Amino acid sequence: MTDLKKKAAEASAAQSDGSGPEPLLKVSGLVKHFPITKGVLKRKVGAVQAVDGLSFDVRPGETLGVVGESGCGKSTMGRLVTRLLEPTGGTIEFQGKDITHLSAGRLRPMRRDIQMIFQDPYGSLNPRHTVGGIVGTPFRLQGVTPEGGVKREVQRLLELVGLNPEHYNRYPHEFSGGQRQRIGIARALALKPKLVVADEPVSALDVSIQAQVVNLLDDLQDELGLTYMIIAHDLSVIRHVSDRIAVMYLGKIVELADRTSLYEAPMHPYTKALMSAVPVPDPRRRGAKSDRILLRGDVPSPISPPTGCRFHTRCWKATQICKTTEPPLIQLKTGHQVACHHPENGEDQAPGDAPLVTDAITVTSAPAAEPAEADKADEPVAETATESPKAGEAEGAAEAEEAPKAEDTPKPDAESADAGDAAAGDAEGGSRE
Ligand SMILES: Nc1ncnc2c1ncn2[C@@H]1O[C@H](COP(=O)(O)OP(=O)(O)O)[C@@H](O)[C@H]1O
Ligand code: SF4
Ligand SMILES: [Mg+2]
Repeated sequence: MTDLKKKAAEASAAQSDGSGPEPLLKVSGLVKHFPITKGVLKRKVGAVQAVDGLSFDVRPGETLGVVGESGCGKSTMGRLVTRLLEPTGGTIEFQGKDITHLSAGRLRPMRRDIQMIFQDPYGSLNPRHTVGGIVGTPFRLQGVTPEGGVKREVQRLLELVGLNPEHYNRYPHEFSGGQRQRIGIARALALKPKLVVADEPVSALDVSIQAQVVNLLDDLQDELGLTYMIIAHDLSVIRHVSDRIAVMYLGKIVELADRTSLYEAPMHPYTKALMSAVPVPDPRRRGAKSDRILLRGDVPSPISPPTGCRFHTRCWKATQICKTTEPPLIQLKTGHQVACHHPENGEDQAPGDAPLVTDAITVTSAPAAEPAEADKADEPVAETATESPKAGEAEGAAEAEEAPKAEDTPKPDAESADAGDAAAGDAEGGSRE
């Protein structure tokens, strides 16, 4: 464990008893509902409840992993905390300052401190710009001239992320997916941010390249003292990089704990199901029977989510109270928060409640995933999510089609596009569509 990681772990331990340092980011009751409108008058007929009441902290120097199936609101949350989207409700504080509804102009200085790395290394880089131009964009947008000039700084950044600084004048199409993601990372780091939100930074890459990029992010964290929020639909990626992990289901955080507690004793049934789908790396355990939980049914629609606990339609432990009463996210063990009436590895919060009768739920004991199936099994509960789009598609849909229509999506003009890279990346990606 490096010094920085140690400090983050200490801070994490201290904070769970309320005595730690100020969090870098503090999110309370964050809500984002996308209105669904009908007719010429754009009458509101409903809303996509993409994010519905998230509360969490991100502490200096730590990596908070966020995991959940496609469509559960991870990207929306990333875009809210980087203020690329306007929240419907709740508050976002960065270094103790409320940034929830800051105007584009007042957000500008903060944009330097919070940067975003996007999932798609192809769509997020403008093919008409050279690598030098792309990585230098944040300096232009912020009107900053680094010591030694932009070119020298860009070349230093390219070297930092493991690219050849002489490739300054090349175009994105001349690079592989992994190299392009490195360009995206260099761009995000240009303004020396404090917090980096990486939205599925490796899911568009070949498995063999994923580890390289993950290791790069890890090394950069130690070198530059970065704080990360890393979003993934894949627990196997999250496991290696996170100090703490938030598990999301249908717009809510259902469990939040440090990595060891979460992996050793998950408390939310959904987390348990997600984990049971991760391949077993230990060869001695391969082939042994494991409790692989195959959730039946699709993820319900965020337009009309289930009442009570949103997971009750797929949970094998559901009882009557689960259908009627939403379980709050509460700390049931030190540093381990969970939203469940009948948690695993913990005290039952509603003992004796009558079970909910439903045929949609079955738990199957299946052999652990064979190594050859590792790729397939990499996507948690893939079996259950047959109807829901893959992460890439969801992303594409949100960015290419829905985003331009949404009223509160920032325009890629000079004022608002200076999320450094974040907005620049979007604007560039969007302009190609
Ligand atoms: N701009 C938008 N307009 C309307 N609905 C959206 C928009 N962006 C995302 N959504 C919807 O919000 C939900 C959460 O999406 P998203 O945050 O992309 O999930 P994830 O990143 O976990 O896959 C999805 O149902 C998605 O269709
Ligand atoms: S609250 Fe009930 S339905 Fe929800 S996860 Fe817990 S046991 Fe399952
Ligand atoms: Mg996403």
